[in-house]
Amino acid sequence: MRTEMRTEMRIPKRTFDAVIVGGGGAGLRAALQLAEANLKVALISKVFPTRSHTVSAQGGITAALANVSDDNWHWHMYDTVKGSDYLGDQDAIEYLCRNAASAVYELEHMGLPFSRLEGGKNAGKIYQRPFGGQSQNYGGEQAIRTCAAADRTGHALLHTLYQRNIAARTQFFDEFFALDLIRDADGYVLGVTALEIETGQPWAFESRATLLATGGACRVFRHSTNAHINTGDGLGMALRAGLPLEDMEFWQFHPTGIPEVGSLISEGVRGEGGFLENKDGEKFMSRYAPNARDLASRDVVARAIAQELRAGRGCGPRGDYVHLKIEHLGAEKIKARLPGIRELSMQFAGADPITDPIPVTPTAHYMMGGIPSNMHGQVVAPIHTGPEEAVPGLYAVGECACVSVHGANRLGGNSLLDLVVFGRAAGMHMIDYLRENPIPRPLPQAEVEKSLGRLARWDKPKGTETVAGLRGDMQKVMQDHCGVYRTEALLKEGLAKLDQVEARLPDAALSDHSRMFNTARLEALELENLMPIARATLVSALARTESRGAHTREDHPQRDDDQWLRHTLYFSENDQLDYKPVKLKPLTVETFQPKERTY
Ligand code: FUM
Repeated sequence: MRTEMRTEMRIPKRTFDAVIVGGGGAGLRAALQLAEANLKVALISKVFPTRSHTVSAQGGITAALANVSDDNWHWHMYDTVKGSDYLGDQDAIEYLCRNAASAVYELEHMGLPFSRLEGGKNAGKIYQRPFGGQSQNYGGEQAIRTCAAADRTGHALLHTLYQRNIAARTQFFDEFFALDLIRDADGYVLGVTALEIETGQPWAFESRATLLATGGACRVFRHSTNAHINTGDGLGMALRAGLPLEDMEFWQFHPTGIPEVGSLISEGVRGEGGFLENKDGEKFMSRYAPNARDLASRDVVARAIAQELRAGRGCGPRGDYVHLKIEHLGAEKIKARLPGIRELSMQFAGADPITDPIPVTPTAHYMMGGIPSNMHGQVVAPIHTGPEEAVPGLYAVGECACVSVHGANRLGGNSLLDLVVFGRAAGMHMIDYLRENPIPRPLPQAEVEKSLGRLARWDKPKGTETVAGLRGDMQKVMQDHCGVYRTEALLKEGLAKLDQVEARLPDAALSDHSRMFNTARLEALELENLMPIARATLVSALARTESRGAHTREDHPQRDDDQWLRHTLYFSENDQLDYKPVKLKPLTVETFQPKERTY
């Protein structure tokens, strides 16, 4: 079949059954499902796929395999609902946890080199380590549930899925930057426009089904564990297509990032027996979470560290970090189970954890909100202010999507799981959708032209502002005004400052207008995605007058289920907010009723 032709537009077009935007774990898992069904799949990625941010996931993927502790998916589900501070949708959480073990075994059979248990009756089975917020028997003893390939689980997962996609003949478009969704007047999504980075050539990718798997957006903050590529490109595309973003007030601050640098120090370190200490040598977590201590849920540990720093008990000349200690584990265990952590700590903190404590501080890590989608990966949105409906032809999975399984606070190890469980589910649903919609609809030329116009805006020869300057100012606003602790005054001031930064955007210009591999142009386009995400976050956080999960309002310290057991939907137009109820009814089991959350 001929796939390359010129449209009436100014750009060339390629046609596929499905287009996947994003080459991380979610995009690769969905693409694999489609390619193995002999569909013609294009995977567009702005970096070579194995450089996607999934590669840096360290600690593991959670599934109740019961290889180390007694376990079952019901307990995993309970912990996830509780961890979400009851904002997670319980139907989707059940789907996630019920399918976790089969997803992990599937990866094992694909060749993912999991670490193995040594000794005991389960010797040789997949290695599992304890992670935060995990319990046996609905809040009892610590569960040991996170399956790991040393501390490089994401790296192993990404390479496994990439190789499988090569075998399945997924067509990769590496170093293509997706610009905009192409949506027709009836609301159907018919593909994307994208920029070929090497040549500067814009393309139209036409497809009957499009999946966004563009990952997170923690680059809205100054300090983040995220790669520089995590600029929320799919979210920007969704907002520009008139779609809302869900629960954008909820950002996870990982308790243990290396100060200033941001590199992640895995929760697996505490899972292996590491603990936090303040400058007085006090293991302070027992004051904040008497039972789970260092393995309390991430929001709890991040707040505890922030409190210690505020109280002047931080370490170092500026008192701006605490210590994470693992010397007692011994060199052999550290080298076997945490080799990457040791390397990162030596490289970026100048501390060999075999002998020295690792300096750590809470650092932006994960976006619980995102593009509203259901457990089949379909993007869902209220149409003309009516009830929520699936957007025909559009799917979203992974961190860019809000299913919502993580609610107000994600548990560690549930992110890699989310990628593969919902990547597969979306792939399966897309196969059905493509069968039911075999005839391509005409591409709306005006939409493509609009996208090209947006791109051409950066050809403007001169300006008074720089992209780097604006990005830095936006990140400072978010870091200072929308961190672990928030108040109405702080958020309002942040929004006013962001207004000023945004107002300067039209005056920005590039100093390099070349076409080939122009990374300055990419950074400008990324900034256009980040800026509305920052706004969505501040507006949503200001509206939510309660504290839940990772959203801590000092002026509203209590969780308020009467008012706020609901999801936020943010629309760009006039910063409009809408809400939808949390789905409390699981698929087959009883509801976990909201109750006070303690660890
Ligand atoms: O701490 C970690 O290893 C991170 C895991 C996660 O975010 O799921």
